Amino acid sequence: MISVGVVGAGYWGPNLLRNFLEVPDTNVSMCCDTRQERLDFIKKRYPSIETTKSFDDMIRNEKIDAISIATHASSHYELAKKALEHGKHVLIEKPITEKSEHALELMEIGKKNNRIIMVGHIMEYAGPVETVKEMIDNGEIGQIYYMDSVRVNLQPFREDVNVLWDLAPHDISLSLYFLGQDPISTYVLGQSYVSDTQENVAFGFIRFPNDVISHFHLSWLAPMKMRQTNIVGSKKMVFYDDVDNIEKLRIFDQGVDIEKDPNALTERQMILRKGNMYAPKIDTREPLFKEVYHFIDCVKNNKTPRSDALEGWKVVKVLEAMQESIKSGKEVPINLNY
Ligand SMILES: NC(=O)c1ccc[n+]([C@@H]2O[C@H](COP(=O)([O-])OP(=O)(O)OC[C@H]3O[C@@H](n4cnc5c(N)ncnc54)[C@H](O)[C@@H]3O)[C@@H](O)[C@H]2O)c1
Repeated sequence: MISVGVVGAGYWGPNLLRNFLEVPDTNVSMCCDTRQERLDFIKKRYPSIETTKSFDDMIRNEKIDAISIATHASSHYELAKKALEHGKHVLIEKPITEKSEHALELMEIGKKNNRIIMVGHIMEYAGPVETVKEMIDNGEIGQIYYMDSVRVNLQPFREDVNVLWDLAPHDISLSLYFLGQDPISTYVLGQSYVSDTQENVAFGFIRFPNDVISHFHLSWLAPMKMRQTNIVGSKKMVFYDDVDNIEKLRIFDQGVDIEKDPNALTERQMILRKGNMYAPKIDTREPLFKEVYHFIDCVKNNKTPRSDALEGWKVVKVLEAMQESIKSGKEVPINLNY
């Protein structure tokens, strides 16, 4: 039996808690939040879960094997460091930390203490994403030319981070996962239309080796909720719409083939290939359930998580470069050697 403590019972923490309770041989024994009303909310729904305002109580509790951190990004580093130093495994919400050097430090502490560190890059656990990854890896999509994603809606602005640090971790982790390569540089335009300080809209791209581009549009200020990713490859094209409940994933047998002109009038000719479209069967289980299930499996069997601390660090390095690009108005190189 793995015993889990959840810290942070705002919006996301209760979702983590609910899913942990569904994982076999797993128990949530404690929940911590600095706000009493959130602890009351948890206690009402789950009377057997101990609640506390003191994180020290949680890390000193010897029954707890692992801690799931769902507080604001600014507190991830301190809480995770304490938890690891007290011998707990940690699942940290995205972004792993606000500074890349802090992510590296956590990675070192985790290695030294032989503890699992996983980051909640939830998109990697979504059924359609797993299907696309399989198709990419078995060559069905061909060589990937570019990715293009939209992640927008009208939502209350977060005060702790800007739209980039809130939403871009999803698209950065997806790009790293699909492309399997480290990025080279990034260019981002960010704008604050409503509040004075934090950007609420961002448009940008990440450049990868072999001319691959990952382009994205993020916004808290848009009329409709859109969560879409297009992947264009040399053999097939993918349209992933996470808001569509019927056909989340569509695969298009479409592309442009360049062939030698048989009449030799020109050297080569372009042939538009417009084949079939199909919607493959996908795993429809809740991605958050699969994420926490994977975390518990890694803890039990001492496995390296799919979204480990190294990936968490890479995502923060890209975010730092993106933030610098917004500030300087220039394309910023990304160096992922450490
Ligand atoms: N994967 C996803 O799709 C997804 C979605 C939403 C949020 N998140 C992530 O979850 C985290 C939390 O986001 P949220 O929307 O739930 O925020 P939130 O503000 O709703 O909740 C955060 C909670 O943490 C508590 N808290 C803050 N510091 C604390 C501390 N030191 N000790 C104990 N409790 C503390 C606050 O009182 C609050 O109740 C963020 O990292 C966010 O990026 C992920």
